[in-house]
Amino acid sequence: MPKFNDLDIENWKESDIWTDSLWIINERDKSGKHSNFYHGNFVPQIPHQLILRYSKENDLVLDPFLGSGTTAYECETLKRNFIGIEIQNELVEKVQNNLDKTDKIARVFCGDSTKKEFFEEINLFLKDKNQNKVQLAILHPPYADILKFSTLENDLSNKKSLKEFLESFSLVLQNTKGIMNKDGYLAIVIGDKYSSGQWIPLGFYCMNEAQKLGLTLKSVIVKNMEGNRAKMNKEGIWRYRALTSDYYIFKHEYIFIFKN
Ligand SMILES: C[S@@+](CC[C@H](N)C(=O)[O-])C[C@H]1O[C@@H](n2cnc3c(N)ncnc32)[C@H](O)[C@@H]1O
Repeated sequence: MPKFNDLDIENWKESDIWTDSLWIINERDKSGKHSNFYHGNFVPQIPHQLILRYSKENDLVLDPFLGSGTTAYECETLKRNFIGIEIQNELVEKVQNNLDKTDKIARVFCGDSTKKEFFEEINLFLKDKNQNKVQLAILHPPYADILKFSTLENDLSNKKSLKEFLESFSLVLQNTKGIMNKDGYLAIVIGDKYSSGQWIPLGFYCMNEAQKLGLTLKSVIVKNMEGNRAKMNKEGIWRYRALTSDYYIFKHEYIFIFKN
């Protein structure tokens, strides 16, 4: 019987928790507070499934790349405590204002997730609330420089090289690990990229950064990228480009699951 989620083992056949390593999601969940205004957000089904699978009601979930708050809204629906971090203040304000006032922790911070001092402040905040450490962390970083999220220097999408990006990502992993439960779970959602005629396996590089820190890899999930906004209505152009060249069109991304 898993101790890390609320599965009712007597009725396991009725569970809607996914257990396969291939996730084909054909339609984005647009219910509730999910508005899909943010270019670069993930489908709500990703945090929904991860939260159901790797946390219990009242556990604490962290998202250090909050963006438009998809994880925050799923935590609200699934009655988890939540803390989020985002470098862009406008997003932080928007999400914080949109969250309900309940007895749960639902707090979003504006800051740089690579900074250790900032996580020390979060740790003090959690202690002040008598809150346990993070049981589940969901990390959806920029896919290096594929999509620039802001002009802020410490935004990971503005790192000058792959090396710098991975060093910064590793700092976020270290800070996250520092406030996690000993047996907590950490998920990385990431895709690959092309640069100078080469496929750059960004996903595997990020996976490797987590392994270097001693996190245990539990699963590699492949998810389809159907309905990606950048590629929407341009299928023909992409196919033409692929046929007249030697590469395949990105149609998948990864979700790496680690145990602390
Ligand atoms: C891929 S998006 C996350 C989208 C989110 N999952 C959603 O559904 O909206 C990555 C986010 O990380 C933020 N970000 C980039 N560098 C950061 C940093 N150093 N600290 C905190 N947030 C950062 C970006 O501003 C962007 O909103």
